[in-house]
Amino acid sequence: MKQTQLKANITATGKYLPKEVLTNHDMAKLVETSDEWIQTRTGIRERRKVQKGEATVDMSTNAVLDLMERYDLDAKEIDVIIVATVTPDMILPCSAALVQKNINAVNAWGYDLSAACSGFLFGLESGAALIVSGRCEKVIVIGADTMSSILNYEDRNTCILFGDGAGAVLLEPSEEFGIIDSELRIDGTGGEFLKVIGGGSLNPASHETVTNKLHYVRQDGKTVYKFAVRGMADISYEVAERNNLKGDDISLFIPHQANKRIIDAAAKRLGLKESQVMINIDTYANTTSATIPICIAEVSEKNRLNIGDNVIISTFGAGFSWGAMYLKWGMQANA
Ligand code: UT7
Repeated sequence: MKQTQLKANITATGKYLPKEVLTNHDMAKLVETSDEWIQTRTGIRERRKVQKGEATVDMSTNAVLDLMERYDLDAKEIDVIIVATVTPDMILPCSAALVQKNINAVNAWGYDLSAACSGFLFGLESGAALIVSGRCEKVIVIGADTMSSILNYEDRNTCILFGDGAGAVLLEPSEEFGIIDSELRIDGTGGEFLKVIGGGSLNPASHETVTNKLHYVRQDGKTVYKFAVRGMADISYEVAERNNLKGDDISLFIPHQANKRIIDAAAKRLGLKESQVMINIDTYANTTSATIPICIAEVSEKNRLNIGDNVIISTFGAGFSWGAMYLKWGMQANA
């Protein structure tokens, strides 16, 4: 008898972007920069920003509601909710609990996962393990970040790069489609190059931490860029090669959206044409944990993939943390 190995398959997607748009011209009113500089160095044209009172849990909830509506999913069926984020509404309770309450997922458990830009990919891997082990049948993985809550809008090195948003996917078991392979890494020697120092247990919030602006993102962009270009390209290539995927075999490459030039380098390494690469950094900038699920949601909304297509997802971010995943697309069109 033929042995089939269970896979975790993405069967539904949803997304939420706040309404307010901040263009590069808007950013140029806040810091010394220009539309031309931002576009040529990063590929970004505009980004979204939450309204006062709106945050990660609201965006996550809206992304899951969008998914539930598209897929006709009953919240009672959800087993687990994983929220990848570095900007939870509060230190506790976890965002997953508040999303569970908002959508009335009465049979679910869940947790938050913090791995910066790699959070969603690590969340997919974790959710997939629950599916493949047979312990769960419906796992929601959300990537959501309210980057505007930790950005210093006086620092041109960082504030132009990020935006707010959320995306969600549903993982279900499948014998044919879903996640085939992945390679994930973390290396804390890169920790100093991209960090938020204040507000954690080492430097709890105090007048001093606020005065010294320790609650904002700090980045040595040049160093992170150097590692990201190599890291994302190498790991994507490694996963493609060991699955015997040449450029033409890959229907779509879905990379983390931090910088168009980093994406281009990875795509070149994989031997891909522009039409094989998912890009939306121009409209949303870097939404940290949310870039990949928002991309996946847009791919499915536009029916950009067919059942059985080969997809490579990859990421690089703070930690350093990075990784790539190979999956066979198994989502019905217009689900
Ligand atoms: O998702 C998390 C992982 N993060 C990343 O992957 C980000 C990686 N880093 C990058 O994407 C790029 O390094 C940046 C987009 C952040 C910067 O681009 P760059 O080509 O590396 O520029 P740079 O840092 O070398 O700066 C070049 C110049 C500097 O001026 P000088 O020293 O040459 O006079 C900067 O001060 O550009 C200046 N600059 C700006 N100018 C206008 C820096 N930020 C800006 C700005 N507008 N916003």
